[in-house]
Amino acid sequence: MSKIRNALVVVLLWSIVLTSFVSAQTRKSWTKAPEIERKVEALLKQMTLEEKVGQLNQYSYGMPTGPGTGRSKVEEAIQRGEIGSFLNVTDPVLSNRLQHIAMDQSRLKIPLIFGLDVIHGYRTTFPVPLALSATWDPTIVQRVSRIAAEEATSSGIRWTFSPMVDIARDPRWGRIVEGAGEDPYLGSMMARAYVRGYQGENLNDPQSMAACAKHYVAYGAAEAGRDYNTVDMSERQLREVYLPPFHAAVDEGVATLMASFNSINGVPASANQFTLTQVLRGEWDFRGFVVSDWGSVGELIPHGVANDLATAARKGFLAGVDMDMESNAYFEHLAGMTKAGQVPQAALDQAVRRILRVKFALGLFDRPYVDEKNAVTTLPPANVAVARDAAEKSFVLLKNDASVLPLQKGMRTVALIGPLADSAPDMLGAWSARGDAKDVVTLKAALEKRAERDGFRLIYAKGTEIRGTSEAGFADAAAAAAQADVVLLALGEDASWMTGEAASRAFIDLPGNQQQLLERVAAAGKPTALVLFSGRPLALTSAAARVNAIIEAWSPGVQAGPALERVLFGEAAPYGRLTVTFPRSLGQVPIYHSVLNTGRPPVGLDLTRPPTDGNEKFKSRYIDEQNVPLYPFGFGLTYTTFDYSAPQVDAKEISVDQLNAGRAKLSITAEIKNTGSRRGEDLVQLYIGLRGTSVARPVRQLKGFRRIALAPGESQRVEFTIGRDELSIWQRDTKYAVEPAELNIWIAPNAQSGTPVTVTLK
Ligand code: NOJ
Repeated sequence: MSKIRNALVVVLLWSIVLTSFVSAQTRKSWTKAPEIERKVEALLKQMTLEEKVGQLNQYSYGMPTGPGTGRSKVEEAIQRGEIGSFLNVTDPVLSNRLQHIAMDQSRLKIPLIFGLDVIHGYRTTFPVPLALSATWDPTIVQRVSRIAAEEATSSGIRWTFSPMVDIARDPRWGRIVEGAGEDPYLGSMMARAYVRGYQGENLNDPQSMAACAKHYVAYGAAEAGRDYNTVDMSERQLREVYLPPFHAAVDEGVATLMASFNSINGVPASANQFTLTQVLRGEWDFRGFVVSDWGSVGELIPHGVANDLATAARKGFLAGVDMDMESNAYFEHLAGMTKAGQVPQAALDQAVRRILRVKFALGLFDRPYVDEKNAVTTLPPANVAVARDAAEKSFVLLKNDASVLPLQKGMRTVALIGPLADSAPDMLGAWSARGDAKDVVTLKAALEKRAERDGFRLIYAKGTEIRGTSEAGFADAAAAAAQADVVLLALGEDASWMTGEAASRAFIDLPGNQQQLLERVAAAGKPTALVLFSGRPLALTSAAARVNAIIEAWSPGVQAGPALERVLFGEAAPYGRLTVTFPRSLGQVPIYHSVLNTGRPPVGLDLTRPPTDGNEKFKSRYIDEQNVPLYPFGFGLTYTTFDYSAPQVDAKEISVDQLNAGRAKLSITAEIKNTGSRRGEDLVQLYIGLRGTSVARPVRQLKGFRRIALAPGESQRVEFTIGRDELSIWQRDTKYAVEPAELNIWIAPNAQSGTPVTVTLK
């Protein structure tokens, strides 16, 4: 009997492996489909030089998402075949009208492709991407991006400028909210999940849209966290940290990439031959197309590598930017330069080929229009349910002294205080596409219903404005706290002004006078939980010292209130874990877990040991701050507790040659026990560190994670297997290899805890 069962399990596992392999192949088949290639070549042969350049030209039409240009007479330009794509057209009637001009009145009837920033939902707004990453759950990300695709394509949008896969390690940078945080391993997984969701099993499906991995590359490393700023980094850093999520997206079949605004080692990313051509095309064989960022070809002039728009066009184009978003540089200059021999005809054909390939793959030639009647205008209830679930799973419990949370049954009075308690627009977060604040259920709205149902009294006081300076509301807030059994403080950032693009902050505390409000309220001495809405890690040291609990809620989307209510009242347990490090103070920034040890690590920089004793001179430390963060990467509490045994390995020594040949693997296990009194889930993380290698390696690097669910008192042994992929170090060009080393391995609940087991690689 058990033999039969085992055989069945094996068959089942193999069929899962096989199906996912086959579907990965189908998902990518458009990149080299003979039929598509034939059509592309046939069309290319009929195109004039001007029509070719037209395909490389993209304009914004509608609500601009960059410095305005005020375009007019686009209709005639479409007729003449001068525009290949629009961004920001969201009205299906308009997109059909423009598409009809292309299909009925232009000579070659090449469909337009409509692109939009569909970043975390289209009509149904989900949590912001940083929040989604905190779920550490690629299935949620895939589900959410699939829904976004279903909704957006119903309005004619077949291209999203998402996912943003920039690794970000500086919370001053407003765009940290748009990505999956600081880690390339997790970031690569999330990149794949987004691409799978948006592009579906088949790009040709009318409900699939082309994804766009952006911003290529290293945009997240902008100096001092100031948006659009300079980036200077080693090739190792680029290849080991910033490029991997892009490579993962390409491997998953992403149709497009967007070149970024920043320069890399002096060469703007939008004119960077090394990243755009050598790596992307040469090493990775990317067959889709690259779009510039908004005006980034024209910005080669202020960058200082071109003195006129013609040179900018030539440099951007020859480096590998195929489509020009909003600079008008290609449109004005490429044809002339091709005629003059300054741009090879073959290069122009190649760029056009890439764009047409994606248009054919999407099926735009066969189905250029959208059925206006089917446009999703109201929120489908099933999508709202996913929005609640995703939000619920993105919250991270950072502090919970004396188990203030979950809130106890039988409370008579709850005070809800703060400017984010009832601010619907802020729940939507940056880039909310067609999200509408009217659809948002705020925390206040959810708690009002709950109070009615459960029979407690809810007292609400706004206290202050998000960026307020007036203390006029403080007295009411303090009075509310004084009357309450428990206080919920809803504080944080103004999502549209303080998070997202062009929203870098030089201070990362609670904005305005919210810290003062918090102190006034906390002075009432009631059990107080801070519900924090932010698009970045904030420096929470002084806030954390005064409240009993903190739950990081990010910008949770339309279901903010119901999702929070369920977690606060314990119907759902906190599930999220940090994907970015929370500093103690701004001076520690940039701060991230996978740091090098330096030649002078203070006691405590080695993250396996307790914080620095603070007395050592001549060490790599601050004289006035610890090196360790307030909340480390991977951290998050839940409503029960877990105990981790020391990890065990199946070999204390392992051959480097065998590892490099792909013939050896190492198994690591640890036993995890639920030591609390509630059933709960933990996110078990695997970290490695290599010592004695040719180059210094991070003290710890994430190489695996797994979620487990345990009943009180229950334990489970969790196993990870690592080999060549996890242990390799970049050598040069495309070469990676395992080197002889001492290998430390941790199985731990975050990047700052656990004891390592050591293995020799020889
Ligand atoms: C500029 C942003 O950097 C980019 O992320 C976005 O996709 C484009 N504008 C288009 O809105």
